Amino acid sequence: MLTKIKEATAYIKTLIKEEPVAGIVLGSGLGNFGRQIEVEKEIAYGDIPNFPVSTVEGHSGKLLFGELSGKKVIAMSGRFHYYEGYHPHDVVFPIRVMRYLGIKTLFLSNAAGGTNTSFKVGDLMIIKDHISFFTPNPLVGKNDKELGTRFPDMTEPYSKDLIGKAKKIAADAGIDVKEGVYISVTGPTFETKAEYRLVHTLGADAVGMSTVQETIAAVHMGLPVFAVSVITDLGIREDDNVITHEEVLEAAHAAEPKLTHIFKEMIAAL
Ligand code: HPA
Repeated sequence: MLTKIKEATAYIKTLIKEEPVAGIVLGSGLGNFGRQIEVEKEIAYGDIPNFPVSTVEGHSGKLLFGELSGKKVIAMSGRFHYYEGYHPHDVVFPIRVMRYLGIKTLFLSNAAGGTNTSFKVGDLMIIKDHISFFTPNPLVGKNDKELGTRFPDMTEPYSKDLIGKAKKIAADAGIDVKEGVYISVTGPTFETKAEYRLVHTLGADAVGMSTVQETIAAVHMGLPVFAVSVITDLGIREDDNVITHEEVLEAAHAAEPKLTHIFKEMIAAL
């Protein structure tokens, strides 16, 4: 696995001149964020040795290298989901490659269903913790010590320091942000009413099909993570509750400017 990571990293290094300080993963409907980056190089996933290729609608499948808030960043426009059929090792492969490219902080975003009854569609939720038990752990398999320890501690998967900074940035800009626990599910089905109730009972404020495996791989490598969910639908409501991918994309898109502001200011402060 390390050889594959290093091959992909070496290829990308031939195309970019400087080290990125931050890696960014753009969730469903959040791809426009990429326009904020003064892109110096676009690298199609298909051109990178050993990279999986993205298939889901709303994800274009390329790495964007460039400048954001005066800092060099690398962004994934399109991520790999377990529900697409990728092995968890493939889901986290790009995160590992970005680490080898030199990033010091990982920014993750996603669209998620709200299960906290006080949430509204369009809310931003800073992820303060997660529940990983419903999706396979990407560290299952032989451990490579060069990446990290066999049994990583998970008391603070999402950096408290970064969360504190984000809350201050949001408050200064008059952006209302929630904070909560994200639970990952495999998808691709949205949850049944009973399942939304279950994950709510388990302590989750939001449910989604990404992010957690990526966070685990980052923490394994000692990489600080900051993650935000855009609440795109409310699973817990009692009325008829049909959820569509289009509605998720639309709600994520509408909330994107708030997320963009927070990410940009946080990167400026790195
Ligand atoms: N459930 C799971 N994943 C999601 C949801 C949801 O309600 N909304 C967006 N991604």
